[in-house]
Amino acid sequence: MKAISVRAPAKINLGLSVGPVREDGFHELATVYLALDLHDVVRVTPREDEQITVDAYTRSQKSPDAGIPLGPDNLAVRAVELLREATGVRAGLDLVIEKNIPVAGGMAGGSADAAAALVGANVALELGLTRDDLEPLAAQLGSDVPFLLHGGIAVGTGRGEQVMPVLARGRYSFLIAVSDTGLSTPEVYREYDRLVPDPEPPGLSSELMTALRSGDTELLSAFMVNDLEPAALSLRPELDEVLQCGLDAGAAAGIVSGSGPTCVFLLEPGDDVELMSVELWDAPGVSAVVTAHGPAQGVRVIG
Ligand code: C5P
Repeated sequence: MKAISVRAPAKINLGLSVGPVREDGFHELATVYLALDLHDVVRVTPREDEQITVDAYTRSQKSPDAGIPLGPDNLAVRAVELLREATGVRAGLDLVIEKNIPVAGGMAGGSADAAAALVGANVALELGLTRDDLEPLAAQLGSDVPFLLHGGIAVGTGRGEQVMPVLARGRYSFLIAVSDTGLSTPEVYREYDRLVPDPEPPGLSSELMTALRSGDTELLSAFMVNDLEPAALSLRPELDEVLQCGLDAGAAAGIVSGSGPTCVFLLEPGDDVELMSVELWDAPGVSAVVTAHGPAQGVRVIG
């Protein structure tokens, strides 16, 4: 048994179509996920006893506190608990999370840590489960955890947990405007229900799929769409100014990421990224602006 480090990517949704609420309370979705090179790292160290501990830090000097729960509510801890229940193994682990993905930002940061913890605990405790074995556990932990195991570009259906790779070309660059205050995903879905009481079944446009096959940034910029955006804007009106600010600064397209409040801007070759970043820093509620690229790999053991 050994200590290992696992990297897990952030995701954005290049397309997110939200349908009706199902009997289990989740919404039927059709989405295109993209994994980014923005990632968290989870260090997993076996313990002598049966305890599971978790700690987290950021590399930002401004806020060394990662701002995530450090108890049994932590999704990475729940991932290890689930793996132990599934295998009957009781060995304990220390988890240390290097947090780079915005918290409550609509980029699946908590899900990334859970996916990394699943893979990390499986390797560190020498449980020998395959990726196929881990997938149903990932789906139990959250709708986008299975995608984070895969990475790349993929279509998600069901509640988002059924993942199919997509024929896609190209590599895309984004500016990411992080908000100083997160949004609660269930609250954004509730606002969606209020705004759209009778939604159509979800579907992805053929234009979006064609754009992804072509790898053409300009084409993609015309067909990126997020059905949760009006709900996020309704709860956080200043996000409209953030989106407008990025577009005014020259971004090809800007959308709210998932349930928000992070805003992502698609970049084109020749864009003045420095200038766009400076403009975005001044937008209301923006606490950081970072560049990211995708598609990136899913969860990987890095040492
Ligand atoms: O699956 P996950 O734990 O990430 O979902 C968080 C919350 O987002 C759910 O409790 C639910 O309120 C909402 N959600 C939803 N429909 C989905 C995915 C998430 O309503 N397909």
